[in-house]
Amino acid sequence: MEKIVLSEELKKRALPELFLTPDGKQISTREEWENILRPYWREVLLREEYGRVPPYVAPEIQTERKPIDFAGKAVWETVSFRFNVSGKEHVVPTQLIYPADGKKHPFFIYLNFRPDIPDIYLPVEELMDNGFGIFSVCYNDVTTDNGDFTTGLAALFQTGERTADDTGKIGYWSYMASRMMDYLQTRPEADHAAIGVAGHSRLGKTALLTAALDERFAFVCSNDSGCCGAALSRCRCEGGERVVDIFNRFPYWFSPSFAKYAEAVETMPFDQHCLLALVAPRAAYIGGAIQDVWADNDNQLLNCVASSKAWELYGKTGIITPDRLPVCGDIFTDGDVGFHFRAGKHYHSRTDWLVYMDAVKKYLSR
Ligand code: GCU
Repeated sequence: MEKIVLSEELKKRALPELFLTPDGKQISTREEWENILRPYWREVLLREEYGRVPPYVAPEIQTERKPIDFAGKAVWETVSFRFNVSGKEHVVPTQLIYPADGKKHPFFIYLNFRPDIPDIYLPVEELMDNGFGIFSVCYNDVTTDNGDFTTGLAALFQTGERTADDTGKIGYWSYMASRMMDYLQTRPEADHAAIGVAGHSRLGKTALLTAALDERFAFVCSNDSGCCGAALSRCRCEGGERVVDIFNRFPYWFSPSFAKYAEAVETMPFDQHCLLALVAPRAAYIGGAIQDVWADNDNQLLNCVASSKAWELYGKTGIITPDRLPVCGDIFTDGDVGFHFRAGKHYHSRTDWLVYMDAVKKYLSR
C-alpha cells in the first residue's frame, strides 16, 4: 500500500538520496550498493560525523569465573581485555553471562552506563530465561564520557588535540564492542551467527554505529537513541533535540569535523538514514518512548521508513508500518527493520527488552 502520509513527511525533510552515487548515478542493485554506495556512506559518516575508529589491536584476555549463578541457570565470568599500544596499556573489564545448559545461544553485546550485573537497564535473568547470553561493558571503563581524550582507550590512540576526523567517544565505545565480538567468536557458548549489539540513548547511537560498521553483528537494538542515532536530523519535531543542541553539549562524542553542520543541518551530505541503511540486510530494531520527546520519535520512525529500501534491495522487508506517525503502544516488528513506541520516559526498560527479544527470536527463526 502506498504510504502517503509518511512519504509527505519524508519529502519535507529533503534527505540526501540514499541510492544516488556522488557522480549522480541512481543505483538499483545490491552489487552497486555493496560496491559503490555502502563504502561511500560509511566513509562519509566516519569522516564527517563520528570520526575514524582506531586500528585493530589484539588485546590480551583473562577470564575469571564468578560464584553467582542466578538460581543455577547461568554462568558468569569476568573477561578483562588488556590493550597495549606502543607501551601504553589499558585494561577494560567486561561481564559474560550465559545460560548454564551447555548449549549455544544468541548473544547481546550490551553497552551499559554502569558495570552492574544485573543492572536497572539489564534484566539478566529475564535474558537467560529467554535463551540469550549477555556480554556487557561499562562505557566509562572504555574511555570516560567527557572531553578528556587522555583516559582509557582514547589515551592509547589519540595523540595531542583532536582535529578533523579524529575519533569521538562514540567511536571508542563502538571499537570496544567490536573487540568483544572478536572474543565472542572464540567462545563455544555463543551462536556466532546470532550475536547482536544493544544500547540505550548515547549507547544506542553507539550500538547503531557498531552494527553499521561491523557486519558480523546479526542485529542491533537501539533504544531511545534519538539525535545522531536513529532519528533523522532534518526537520526535528517540536521539542526534539537538534544537531546544534547535541554538538554544543557533547562535541566530544563526534569528530571535530562535525562542527560545521551544527548550525547548518540542511548542508549535511548525509542524514541518519545513511547510517541505518548500512545495517541492511541484517536486523535493526529501534525503540522509543512517548515521554521521551527529546529523542524525536517521529524522526526515528521516519528513518526506519527512509532506510528500508536498502533492505528491499536484498529482497527483504524493511519496516512494516501503517501510513501514519507513531502512536503510543505501536510495536512494528514483523519486518527486518522494527520500531516500537511504549509509554513512559527515557529509560531502557524490561518492556523494551521483551519487545527486542521477541523480535530477534522471530528474525533468527526466519
Ligand atoms: C542527552 C543527549 C542525548 C542522549 C542522552 C543520553 O539527553 O542530549 O542525545 O541520547 O543524553 O545518552 O542519555
